[in-house]
Amino acid sequence: MISILRAHIAHTPKSPFEHTDALELFEDGAIVFDERVLAVGEFGACRAMFPDAVVVDERGAFVLPGFVDTHVHFPQVPVIGAMGVRLLEWLAQRTLPEENRFADAGYARQQAQAFLRLLLKNGTTTALVFGAHFKDAMQVFFEEANKSGLRISSGLVLGDRHLTPELHTNAERAYQESRDLIDAWHNHGRLRYAVTPRFSLSCSESLLEVCQRLLSETPDLLFTSHINENKDEIAFVGELFPWSRDYLETYERFGLVNERAVYAHNVHVSDSELTRLANANASVSHCCSSNMFIGSGLFPLKRHLQHGVHVALGSDVGGGTGFSLFKEGLMAYQAQMLLQEKGEALTAAHLLYLATLAGAKALKLEEQIGDFIVGKQADFILLKAPQGSTLQATLQQSPDITSSLAALFTLAREESVQQVYVAGKCLLNTQA
Ligand code: GUN
Ligand code: ZN
Repeated sequence: MISILRAHIAHTPKSPFEHTDALELFEDGAIVFDERVLAVGEFGACRAMFPDAVVVDERGAFVLPGFVDTHVHFPQVPVIGAMGVRLLEWLAQRTLPEENRFADAGYARQQAQAFLRLLLKNGTTTALVFGAHFKDAMQVFFEEANKSGLRISSGLVLGDRHLTPELHTNAERAYQESRDLIDAWHNHGRLRYAVTPRFSLSCSESLLEVCQRLLSETPDLLFTSHINENKDEIAFVGELFPWSRDYLETYERFGLVNERAVYAHNVHVSDSELTRLANANASVSHCCSSNMFIGSGLFPLKRHLQHGVHVALGSDVGGGTGFSLFKEGLMAYQAQMLLQEKGEALTAAHLLYLATLAGAKALKLEEQIGDFIVGKQADFILLKAPQGSTLQATLQQSPDITSSLAALFTLAREESVQQVYVAGKCLLNTQA
């Protein structure tokens, strides 16, 4: 069935970091879709092209591409808001004890269902999900992700030192459990597998070699980890890998820096590391609310862009303060403002790009999703300001749709996400 959804439409088919006309807006717009996008533009023109299609009139609502979260932890919803500690204490005192609980597959399933539901409610249709350390927990996570209809990439998290004894694996087990999960789930429906060492701080060299072996056996796997997040963490990694000139080399040595790699944080990074990340076409997930909440620092976005490193957004739940990529966009904007002349001046177009097409590119899905180019998958969200909300009051006086988009990034949260579609199918309708 072909549908025409009439609403304000916004998307960024190009990067606003490279093109001044990247943002495409249609005030009285429409998206025509079945599983794919068939047309996008002014309503009148779309209607003329598809005179027999069913029209759904949502004038006043906004339609954006589904959000892409490039870094979010499935086992960390219960630790959102753990105040008073920075990274290493935050892990030791709050987060790793919670992650121990995922040894219980029943608990893991209940948490997986809640987690996937929250992604959906926040308008995130695609995510690179940092998994749990237990194979059974990942088996149930993939089962639930498969049922959810979302586009999920994830993997068993690996560590064999400096975590808790419950979370530690060994090289042989890590290889076999990862292999089994890859065989079961990689490229199964909308799911893909990401090799996921927690960070080099928690990995012996033989465990990083396992990651290398997995990638060489299955070259289209994704890879994700953490890097250069916190100064104490970076100093400890320096002690653990005395042969390594910097954090990135601990991954490079094992062939883990490539175009399918997504590194989270990268706050305290050298120019040499940025050059090497750019040369490898690796991506960085900017997790702004987490960088602020656990006090890691202000992300040097401008230096990433100057070096040509690809950047997208990550909520980093539960170091981050929630699932909303509207909020991550707002915080990224604020952090860049605080950096004064060292900051990159962001507009609503940049935030939309970072939350959509940039994420799709990081996950190598830009041929399928990220904007409304004809032929792409019809992944989109429909937004309406809740009755009586500040967002509603602001939008009522909005001078133009670009200002409205900026107001959405500033004020819209999960309460404004009314419908979510993946491949043309409605997965959430809060009005139904
Ligand atoms: N580094 C290693 N593990 C983690 C984690 O769970 N969250 C964050 N923010 N950084 C990490
Ligand atoms: Zn993280």
